Amino acid sequence: MTEESTLTGQAPPPVRDWSTPDLDGTDFDPTLAGLMREGPLTRIRLPFGEGWAWLATRHDDVKLITNDPRFSRTEVTHGQVTRMAPNFAPRPGSLAWADQPDHNRLRKPVAGAFTVSAMKRLRPRAQALLDELVDGVLRDGPPADLVERVLEPFPLGVVSELMGVPAEDREQVHTWTREIISTNGVEAAGRAKDGLYGWITATIRSRADRPGEDVYSMLGGAVARGDVREEEAVGLAGPLQIGGEAVTHNCGQMLYLMLTRPELMQRMRARPEARGPVLDELFRWIPHRSSVGLARIALEDVEIAGHRIAAGEPVYVSYLAANRDPAVFPDPDRIDPDRDPNPHVAFGNGPHFCTGTVLARLQTELLVDTLLDRLPGLRLAVPAEQVQWRHRTMIRGPRTLPVTWSS
Ligand code: HEM
Repeated sequence: MTEESTLTGQAPPPVRDWSTPDLDGTDFDPTLAGLMREGPLTRIRLPFGEGWAWLATRHDDVKLITNDPRFSRTEVTHGQVTRMAPNFAPRPGSLAWADQPDHNRLRKPVAGAFTVSAMKRLRPRAQALLDELVDGVLRDGPPADLVERVLEPFPLGVVSELMGVPAEDREQVHTWTREIISTNGVEAAGRAKDGLYGWITATIRSRADRPGEDVYSMLGGAVARGDVREEEAVGLAGPLQIGGEAVTHNCGQMLYLMLTRPELMQRMRARPEARGPVLDELFRWIPHRSSVGLARIALEDVEIAGHRIAAGEPVYVSYLAANRDPAVFPDPDRIDPDRDPNPHVAFGNGPHFCTGTVLARLQTELLVDTLLDRLPGLRLAVPAEQVQWRHRTMIRGPRTLPVTWSS
């Protein structure tokens, strides 16, 4: 990488080390805030991998980079780009690492399971699952840990419903998933991954001739037709089976915000018919993840924000930062339930836009509606400072959310 990357002749921005601090609560990462102040395009070095990468933080640059085929995901898999996570093992079939036209080919077999109409079909089953969990909470009475009793099991159950995990295998599949996303250590997670991926392979094989609307049947059919290879189908299914985790933690942050900001809770309760736009404002504002996600590599020289990103150089975008861009969101650090328009990018942008967006929205809506409606007077059972937060993790959220209500 050269040191001559500016068009204006000025020195490129300094390379800033960005460790991943364990942030509690819903505070915005102060390092990211500093980088945003420094300029639209800065340079960062993350704890693992090699070298440095560009970081784009403005809404328009983030949208441009994420929708521009001159930036490749696949290229990243050929080296050791500076990154947040210690381990780097992209699997064949992973949507996140595919460029066009492969990305479209891979996404096609499962796209049908995540559409708005598929979610409409799923809704009553998801509501039934959630009601069963809340029945249990009500039966046992206050206090209850919402993470353990509802926020974790609900998305696991809904994803298994959508994927087509048979009832008799659910407990095992959920045990593996919990282990993979836990912070119990690399070895335990590795064993669970082997278990889960072995099960997924067998399940996809067994559904080659079984037409069905569940994801494993769709993938079995796609392999049988030769649309995707078996290892690709397995690589596609894994992140989907595990992806429910994002909802657990995002909703954990969302409920924490409602439980600690009486005006927000009041607004949600007073106007249930207008909860949708408030949820969107919370999606915009919530610091969903630590650090940044997956890099891209420039395939040719590209000029952005007065700098030249040279071919071969890695680039990160921060959706969190783009969601706080004052040029697009006036007073961006304030939660404004009446914000309109709200073109946030909490689910990403461009071809890699989150596959589970509609599913995540459905689950969030059901969770908020059901918890507020069925648990009157819902409030934290401990002082806000005593809520425990997840540490050393990609997705931020409360570890436990002890609540009580008027029974
Ligand atoms: C990708 C956000 C829930 C599956 C992404 C991306 C973001 C995101 C920001 C990255 C876009 C990029 O790489 O540029 C979220 C949030 C969620 C959520 C905030 C919950 C509130 C889910 C769920 C699933 C899911 C429930 C599936 C069951 C995926 C997959 C990708 C992805 C497979 C990779 C897509 C690709 O690279 O083509 N998500 N997500 N997500 N998400 Fe989600």
